[in-house]
Amino acid sequence: MQRIVVLISGRGSNLEAIVRQSVAQDWPGRVVAVLSHKADAGGLAWAAGQGIATAAVDHRAHATREAFDTALADAIDAHRPDWVVLAGFMRILGDGFVQRYAGRLLNIHPSLLPAFPGLHTHRRALEAGCAVAGATVHFVTPALDHGPIVAQAAVPVRAGDTPETLAVRVLAAEHRLYPMALRWAVRGRLRLDGQRVLQLDGEPQHLFCEET
Ligand code: GAR
Repeated sequence: MQRIVVLISGRGSNLEAIVRQSVAQDWPGRVVAVLSHKADAGGLAWAAGQGIATAAVDHRAHATREAFDTALADAIDAHRPDWVVLAGFMRILGDGFVQRYAGRLLNIHPSLLPAFPGLHTHRRALEAGCAVAGATVHFVTPALDHGPIVAQAAVPVRAGDTPETLAVRVLAAEHRLYPMALRWAVRGRLRLDGQRVLQLDGEPQHLFCEET
């Protein structure tokens, strides 16, 4: 069984989708621990209620980013992960951390990367006049919200959309996209080919979420 450690900062709705689908679809992998830099992250309580190990590593207790990254990595490694999954983890991780988990560190970002890395993605997509928004699952590299793309979900922008209404529809798409990508990961169906990620069964690496 592949071991997945999930890092969160907040409510953890992507975490919930991953846990539920991993069980419902009987993946050869399970979420074995959920960690956060915030002890009050909602997803930690949810995970604990599911019987999943949880821990908080408070970034404010560490003088430097490197010290925090090392403490976080120690907490992660205690669970011997095959995959480390960032699901709404809103802290920048240093190069050493990223290198340590190279090839097994995934992130989801609420835009069609490489457009709109960083914050306020939905507001920026609307301001830019985008007709399509979406989300991206990617391998993490030292550059923020950057790295080989595993899968993307496209969501149409509708007349009258606000950042809030768009965020709701993109989040619903994320709840399909991230479990799909992780199911491939734990089944060993992903290969890196330079900057490209190959899905070895030839499954489409995109979702078009018109209905949400
Ligand atoms: C999600 O929309 C995720 O894509 C985003 O935070 C939200 C977390 O929601 N992540 C980023 O912006 C990372 N750059 P959740 O806690 O309900 O899963």
